[in-house]
Amino acid sequence: MNPTPRETWRPDTRHIGRPVYWFDELDSTNAYAQTLSAGAAVIADHQTAGRGQYGRTWTSRPGASLLISFVLDPPAEWRRAVVLTAWAAVAVGETIRRLTNQQARIKWPNDLLVRGKKICGILIEQGRSLVCGIGLNVNQSAEEFAAAGLPEATSLAIVGETAFDLRAVATAAIHSLDEGYDRLVSGEIPLLESEWKWRTGLLGRSVVAELADGTTTAGRLRDMSFDGIELDAGDGAVRALIPEHVRQLRPG
Ligand code: BTN
Repeated sequence: MNPTPRETWRPDTRHIGRPVYWFDELDSTNAYAQTLSAGAAVIADHQTAGRGQYGRTWTSRPGASLLISFVLDPPAEWRRAVVLTAWAAVAVGETIRRLTNQQARIKWPNDLLVRGKKICGILIEQGRSLVCGIGLNVNQSAEEFAAAGLPEATSLAIVGETAFDLRAVATAAIHSLDEGYDRLVSGEIPLLESEWKWRTGLLGRSVVAELADGTTTAGRLRDMSFDGIELDAGDGAVRALIPEHVRQLRPG
């Protein structure tokens, strides 16, 4: 049986959330979004089979997180996981700042951290459609995370020291994502790239890159762009890594 949204609305946006469907429960908003047309957004209070990176599951107490997915149809030039993850991470980082006055850092490749703790995970999936899913912790308490064995997680309520209305958080995130998407449509990829670089917070630092083939490489992060991650590997040697080949990039 097809699930029925409890609410559908069309925010004043150009690209994102046209329309927004809000469900009490779905298996996964990413899975359901695969059945919709580009522009649509799907929110659920609860997921019975939420998906995380690397085939992991994503669980959250009903109503505690913003669980949202978007169907995208970007031009070929930026139809890449690294660009779309950067778009989502920068926009949600800006949403977090507007709501809590706290800056979020990007933890490569797809997490947002506030004060070193994970507040948001992003999952881009290509199936019948291209879908970007976001899990943003909203109203969990530190005690709740500790009891769930997740002491390294945080939420908007913890960092903002107040409870948040999920609908208001959803609206803020949708507008921020729409503004960012509109900038990409206007050709402002370099602006996104520089915001992504800044939010990663690793430029000039010693880093370790774990690559998809299982090897690691270390050096000083000289520069990063959507085309390459450049490490000073010593003796004047510069090593260039393709972003899609980098599984982890961490201070080393
Ligand atoms: C990760 O950190 O592993 C990424 C987690 C992404 C979770 C979100 S919740 C909304 C959307 N629907 C899913 O099934 N997964 C993403």
